[in-house]
Amino acid sequence: MTAADPVKVMKQEVGRAAASRVQSGSIVGLGTGSTTAFAIQFLGERLKSGDLKDIKGVPTSFQASVLAKQYGIPLTTLDEIEKIDIAIDGADEVDPQKNLIKGGGAAHTREKIVDSLADLFIVVVDSSKLVEKLGTTFPLPLEVLALAISPVTRAVEKLGGQPELRMAIKKDGPVITDQGNMIIDVKFTAIDNPAELEKTLNNIPGVLDNGLFVGLADLILVGEVKDGQPSVREI
Ligand code: 5RP
Repeated sequence: MTAADPVKVMKQEVGRAAASRVQSGSIVGLGTGSTTAFAIQFLGERLKSGDLKDIKGVPTSFQASVLAKQYGIPLTTLDEIEKIDIAIDGADEVDPQKNLIKGGGAAHTREKIVDSLADLFIVVVDSSKLVEKLGTTFPLPLEVLALAISPVTRAVEKLGGQPELRMAIKKDGPVITDQGNMIIDVKFTAIDNPAELEKTLNNIPGVLDNGLFVGLADLILVGEVKDGQPSVREI
């Protein structure tokens, strides 16, 4: 028997911890990524066991809706509901003010819509995602209309960023988002004022949204492995 991958165990534990916060009757924002996938799985298991009843999920991506269907979570849309009780989503970087960089899975535009509507937005990460300053370990993703790739690239360079069109794996050419757009990943040395940069980037014509989530997260659940044992702490 091979030993369990500690990163996977950490993601499972943090996903389980987030799923355990969901109460019966809730509308739940379902995030995207490998950590949230475990939360969706555990929500499905709670429904199946009868521990949880009458929830509806609002998916942030094709991946989330496929997983929700796989695990028996009924889905709804933003047209049919007035509010989201709780959203669970991953992140690529988290700073001490709980500001985030998201979009590693190219889903940040829908994620920001859903997560921002939630009464309680829980972020599920492992400790490698915690940074002192955003932008230091992960480039900032922008979702961009295909026809605007060149002007947006130039505008981002003028702001001091190093843009790179995200290329697909196992498909020739660029990544195409669930909405049919492209992703430009922008490397900034460090992001000193996330709130200002979020607005500045979204003001460039052709940018649909960027991966800065400022002042949205309520609770960060951080998975860690201590003395070989996985644990989850709250920020
Ligand atoms: C998708 C995201 C993901 O939540 C983020 O990339 C974290 O993913 P993972 O849990 O796989 O590390 O923002 O757009």
